[in-house]
Amino acid sequence: MLKTELLFIAVFGVVFVIGQSFIDVDDDDTRIVGGEAVVNRSYFPFQVSVRNASRNRHFCGGTIIAERVVLCAAHCFTNRDTSPGAIAVVAGDLYIFEETNDTVVRYNKNVIVHEQYNRTSNENDISLIIF
Ligand SMILES: *[C@@H]1O[C@H](CO)[C@@H](O)[C@H](O)[C@H]1NC(C)=O
Ligand SMILES: *[C@@H]1O[C@H](CO)[C@@H](O)[C@H](O)[C@H]1NC(C)=O
Ligand SMILES: *[C@@H]1O[C@H](CO)[C@@H](O)[C@H](O)[C@H]1NC(C)=O
Ligand SMILES: *[C@@H]1O[C@H](CO)[C@@H](O)[C@H](O)[C@H]1NC(C)=O
Repeated sequence: MLKTELLFIAVFGVVFVIGQSFIDVDDDDTRIVGGEAVVNRSYFPFQVSVRNASRNRHFCGGTIIAERVVLCAAHCFTNRDTSPGAIAVVAGDLYIFEETNDTVVRYNKNVIVHEQYNRTSNENDISLIIF
């Protein structure tokens, strides 16, 4: 488990640093929630929208960290159906409600929520979507 956690930190750290270099951040508190408008989706090709597959309804963001793996938060899956095909991962778009020829949709095979995720303290608020 420790190895996996270190991988999370390493990958997320790199992705975060890359992302930061494309936007003008002047307030640390808005880096994850809030944020700023992205003018060109090629700056953040790893960003995905995580959705309820049956309703195409966005509920969380995610980060592509490997060919078939998206990094997400654990709290996104509290009381949620994570059976295969229930979750859609949508990539390639700049606007959440606008599909284009570049839209790519994949469906989950599995969702792995950190086994020590604590809903009260929010510790280990991390999950992986395998598709
Ligand atoms: C987005 O950025 C890519 C890579 O830098 C560039 O090729 C493309 O022309 C840009 N698109 C727009 C709409 O600015
Ligand atoms: C999607 O929405 C439907 C209708 O509200 C709900 O029954 C289902 O559990 C939801 N699935 C997910 C993965 O959120
Ligand atoms: C999307 O793909 C269709 C079919 O290949 C094509 O006719 C259309 O011009 C494309 N739209 C854009 C905006 O590239
Ligand atoms: C979860 O966090 C709360 C609040 O910090 C703490 O009281 C509780 O013991 C934690 N639960 C576990 C299983 O660690």
